[in-house]
Amino acid sequence: MTASPPVDLPLDPFLLEHLDDPYPVYERLRDAGPVVHLADRDLWVVARYDSVSTVLRKYRQFVSGRGSSYVRVAASGFRAPFIDNDPPAHTRIRRSVQQRFARSAIEEMRPDVREPTERLVEAAVAQGEVDVVTALTQPLPDLAIRRLTGITPPNTETITSWADSVMHMVGPDADPVHMERVLEAVGWLAEQGLAGMPAHCLGRLIMEQGGDTADLEDGEERLMTLASIWLAGIDSTNSLLANAVHAFAHFPEAWEAVRDDPTLIPNAVEEVLRWDSPFRQFFRRTVEEVEIGGVVIPADADVCAILPAANRDPARFADPDTLDIARPDARQHVAFGASIHLCIGAPVARLEAAEFLGALASRVRAFELVGTPVRNPNREIRNFTSLPVRLVTA
Ligand code: HEM
Repeated sequence: MTASPPVDLPLDPFLLEHLDDPYPVYERLRDAGPVVHLADRDLWVVARYDSVSTVLRKYRQFVSGRGSSYVRVAASGFRAPFIDNDPPAHTRIRRSVQQRFARSAIEEMRPDVREPTERLVEAAVAQGEVDVVTALTQPLPDLAIRRLTGITPPNTETITSWADSVMHMVGPDADPVHMERVLEAVGWLAEQGLAGMPAHCLGRLIMEQGGDTADLEDGEERLMTLASIWLAGIDSTNSLLANAVHAFAHFPEAWEAVRDDPTLIPNAVEEVLRWDSPFRQFFRRTVEEVEIGGVVIPADADVCAILPAANRDPARFADPDTLDIARPDARQHVAFGASIHLCIGAPVARLEAAEFLGALASRVRAFELVGTPVRNPNREIRNFTSLPVRLVTA
């Protein structure tokens, strides 16, 4: 294969100094070429929209089976049933629950998501100044995932901390302590969580029947399939909801437009996902030499696809740093990934976010930051530990 050598950059997008604003370093990675090699980490990074899409879509060349996290399955000894498998195992596992995530099935959850959302937003508005994270964006995903799975965790703090450990574990700063917390979560689920599940819930379908196809192996595979859905839906949506408030605090005219015309909410959700995407990256490994944009990536290489960088690529999205809730192609973002691993929970996250913005739009005229937002020092997901905001009503 003849191709240009890769650009080698002395850049590290994972440093904590890029936590608040990683977009300048993402721009440098995009500008440097279709594929960039980070020599210190021996990592092949794609940051352009086209390159990221190629890596996600060519799933036979860029495989997940060796691990979709920073650390390979062989090194961590941990394989998540959905994201760390390739066909046919991935297809079998995904089909076992796929129809439960169809839009029509998720739509049935709406009244049960709306009621607590309205209640919590009402209480936050009555307070005036709140930390949006503890008041709203942490509890709401927990409530939705309880309804989806049938699992009632000990409390919101515990499930939030367990889910945060999952996000550390898949990222570049994995530490044995995170693995311990994740094992604690799965241990709690096995020993206490399953017993408390109501009849006819997704959790029982998986554990007792092996999913709709009855294809999930009894024991660990069923438990880990359920645990993956349970834990993947918490921090991810927390990030989306908090990112939305943060975004609208910076673009008050966009919030005014949402208030004037709430039918814009679904597209506004897509635009927030594009403008500040929850997951920073996912990983793939090459099974053979592959060329992208004239650069050859060797076989068995670690490839890192930076999703928020792709979503701010000016070659794909006009004026990408502006939050434009009427953007016609906002939904083309890759915040939910693409192809066979496209987020199965996307309809759940979209529903939660639409209900959240709907409840806020009917009550809140503006979001004013009343303190410095604090980002969670997590190099995998872009969320906040604190987002103090005044919810202005008058
Ligand atoms: C805003 C919220 C969310 C975002 C941004 C998000 C993002 C993603 C991304 C980027 C992937 C692809 C990973 C890869 O390609 O390796 C993914 C997969 C997945 N997500 Fe989400 N997610 C969100 C919410 C949820 C929710 C609410 C659930 C569960 C209820 C969920 C469950 C999953 C599962 C099980 C997979 C693996 C799918 C597969 O490999 O086939 N996610 N998500």
